[in-house]
Order: sequence, then structure tokens, then C-alpha cells
Amino acid sequence: MGESGMLELKHLSFEVPGEEEAKEIIRDVSLVVPDDKLVVVTGPNGGGKSTLAKLIAGIEKPTAGQIFLGGEDITEKSVTERAKLGIGFAFQQPVRFKGIRVIDLLRIAAGKKLSVSDACGYLSAVGMCARDYIKREVNASLSGGELKRIEIATVLARNPLVSVFDEPEAGIDLWSFQNLIEVFEKLRESISGSSILIISHQERILNIADEIVVLKNGTIDKQGPRDEILPSLIGTSAAVEECRRLMPLTKGAENHA
Ligand SMILES: Nc1ncnc2c1ncn2[C@@H]1O[C@H](COP(=O)(O)OP(=O)(O)OP(=O)(O)O)[C@@H](O)[C@H]1O
Ligand SMILES: [Mg+2]
Repeated sequence: MGESGMLELKHLSFEVPGEEEAKEIIRDVSLVVPDDKLVVVTGPNGGGKSTLAKLIAGIEKPTAGQIFLGGEDITEKSVTERAKLGIGFAFQQPVRFKGIRVIDLLRIAAGKKLSVSDACGYLSAVGMCARDYIKREVNASLSGGELKRIEIATVLARNPLVSVFDEPEAGIDLWSFQNLIEVFEKLRESISGSSILIISHQERILNIADEIVVLKNGTIDKQGPRDEILPSLIGTSAAVEECRRLMPLTKGAENHA
């Protein structure tokens, strides 16, 4: 296995059968997540971001195109094989595991013996008081935000070549969010030979990106260094367009008044 986390998507497409014709959710996406970089994918709801993450993790298989990790073609590899090769994934909606304690989950993720104090370190990193959680079962008794943070901690424990986080901010409170930004910043500094892909709508996460990719209608709408892309997203024309689209409705409503 090459010790490079460079992830490369080449002409990736993903179709699902539709009522009349196949629906293309990802359309000819080519993207490189270089070593040592933090890439943030953003874009409108339904744009295909989570689908792209699932294709990278191997949960879905592309209908066309290829995925390379450190130069190796992993398109046909299973989720488990990809995890072994170094792809770590935190879902937008995490999975609960009945009968497994938080510490077990962290140990499975790390793939090695993990002391309680190491495990606690990962939980503290995501703003959790480890002592209260380490022996808890990863079941429905955990709140959404707790579960989400535990899942992020498992990716940190695994320390993969490519870490993929799908909307890590979802359900996370303001205080823990600040913590999370710091976690990503630290991760970004220490990722020599590996890379991070974060899917996010949050300006503060976009702010720490090396590169930003805007995915819209299943294709890459914009892509480039943060300083190039970010100004075009904030206070954006997209927002203006959206308002224009709504205007006629507002006028109509006035007429009825
Ligand atoms: N298996 C499937 N069958 C049919 N449609 C699907 C399937 N998977 C995803 N879609 C559709 O593809 C589109 C992209 O979904 P996806 O979850 O990737 O969007 P997203 O960019 O992550 O959105 P959000 O910002 O809301 O998380 C959506 O319209 C979704 O309904
Ligand atoms: Mg999504």
C-alpha cells in the first residue's frame, strides 16, 4: 500500500432507475483531493454531496468512472476493503450499534489496543466529557449530537489516509461546534501524507478549507482555492437569484391581500 492519501475521482457518475428514465445523481465528476489538503464540498440540498461521499466510501458503486487512492484503483473494492486501505467515513446520520460500548467502538475504529486515556482523549477532542460516556452503549439513549460527536471521534481514532466527514456540524451545538473547528484545524496541521474531505454548509468550515468544491445538480459547479471560491458563495448571487424566484409569489400574495 502506498503511503499517499491522494484521492482521485475520474469521470464518476451514479445513476438510479427512475420511473421513466434513469436519474443521474452524480454526473461526470472529476476531482482530486491532494495529500496534506483539506477540501470542503458544499452546495445546495440534493446536489449529490452525500451520494459522492457514499461512492468514495464504497457504500454505493458508481455506474461510470473510477476512484483511485494513492494511485491504486479502488472502484471495485468493498466498504471494508476501502476502510482497510485507509478511507474513514463519518455519516451525515450516524448508525447506532446496540450492545457496543463507546470505548469498544473507538477500539474497533483504531484497530489496535487503545487505552482508556487515549479513548478519552478522542472524546474530549469532540467536546465530550469522556468519563460520562466511555462505558455507555451506542444505542438510542444517546442524543443525536452525542452520536454524531462519537462518530467523529471514531474517525479521529482511526486516523485514516482520507477522512470523509458528511456535515459534521449537523445537530452539533454552538459550543461543541467551536471545539470541532479546532479539531479539524489540528487534524489539518497533522495530516502529513493524508487528506480530509468535509461536506459542509458552514461558513466557518469553509473558512479553514484549502480548496472548495461546489456540487450542484450532481456536477461540479465551481472548484478552486478557498480565497477564489469563498467570496462568490457569501452574500451570493445564488441568494439573490433565489429571492428573485420568490418575488413573483410575494407580489401575487399582495394582490390577493
Ligand atoms: N438511491 C436513490 N434513489 C433515488 N434518488 C436518490 C437516491 N440517493 C439519492 N437520491 C437523490 O439524489 C439527490 C442527491 O442526494 P444527496 O443525499 O447526495 O444530496 P446532498 O447534496 O447530500 O443534500 P443535503 O445537503 O440535503 O445533504 C437527492 O435529490 C436525492 O433525493
Ligand atoms: Mg447530504
